Amino acid sequence: YRNLRVALLGAGNVGAEVASLLIAHRDELAERIGAGLELVGIAVRDVDAPRTTELPRELFTTDAESLILGSDIVIELMGGLEPAREYILQALNSGADVITGNKALLATHGPELFEAAEQVGAQLYYEAAVAGAIPIIRPLHDSLAGDQVRRILGIVNGTTNFILDRMHTTGVTLEEALATATELGFAEADPTADVDGFDAAQKAAILASLAFHTVVPLESVHREGITGISLGQVQAATRAGYVIKLLAICERLVDAEGTDGVSARVYPALVPEDHPLAAVHGAKNAVFIEADAAGDVMFYGAGAGGRETASAVLGDLVSAARRHVIGGPGIAESRHANLPVLPMSSITTRY
Ligand code: HSE
Repeated sequence: YRNLRVALLGAGNVGAEVASLLIAHRDELAERIGAGLELVGIAVRDVDAPRTTELPRELFTTDAESLILGSDIVIELMGGLEPAREYILQALNSGADVITGNKALLATHGPELFEAAEQVGAQLYYEAAVAGAIPIIRPLHDSLAGDQVRRILGIVNGTTNFILDRMHTTGVTLEEALATATELGFAEADPTADVDGFDAAQKAAILASLAFHTVVPLESVHREGITGISLGQVQAATRAGYVIKLLAICERLVDAEGTDGVSARVYPALVPEDHPLAAVHGAKNAVFIEADAAGDVMFYGAGAGGRETASAVLGDLVSAARRHVIGGPGIAESRHANLPVLPMSSITTRY
């Protein structure tokens, strides 16, 4: 096998899981790709900072730029706008494909980064940027690309869904539910990004741009958070047959003046209790897509969490790596595992 050199920028919750899964499944991934993946280094600010996962110390470096220059694929999971933007541009300009989970960066500088990738014929992957483990970028970019998306209704922030769900189901106040969400660790470092809807607005900008094949700037996403929602309102909604959900709504429509365009908006909305989105509990995310020919399609799963989000990053890594392997396994050929199919008589499970 040829080895592809992979650089990782950032070793937070997601980054550390990516590194450890990559090391643990190295051989299996190599079979699937038709090339090896060599994690050549992990760039961090502080080599000695505590990590959530044990990783070989010799992988760590503070010299991101040298790491980037020697790599075929660069994974950016450091977060924030700078220096993440600068590093991604350096990577793309050196011809590397880039994988990022940085929703803030994409919602703010997406067009510049995509342009840079196009200039050099590199790819920028970002499945992890919206709704964590849920495959939603590739379905919109590929599977639904021949259809006309009419509307997307997304529960794309786990923290606020957890808070509103707790208020509905256990009758606690917003403050109490937020304290629990923070303890459980899926709130952003600054939870105002969650409760004021900034995180959901970034994801709405990314989804709307993708679904409607246009550029939806973050500033044009209407945003209202959940801090004004009282327990009384939640209970009144329940009595009327609704649940309150913070929705990211991306819609193609004609406005009151007759202009055909796109609307992207985030606010607490009343969802009828029999709508599939009403059944999305806890910190889970879901994206409900209404398309012209396909009709309704829904995606559900973990929208946050290190290991869960790492799954989306690794999917991007396999896609990026396959691009480097001319004549490598295609969709129909990627069957190397050679597992026996078990006869019904030998299994005990019924579900
Ligand atoms: N704070 C985010 C959430 C994490 O609660 O959904 C994932 O972007």
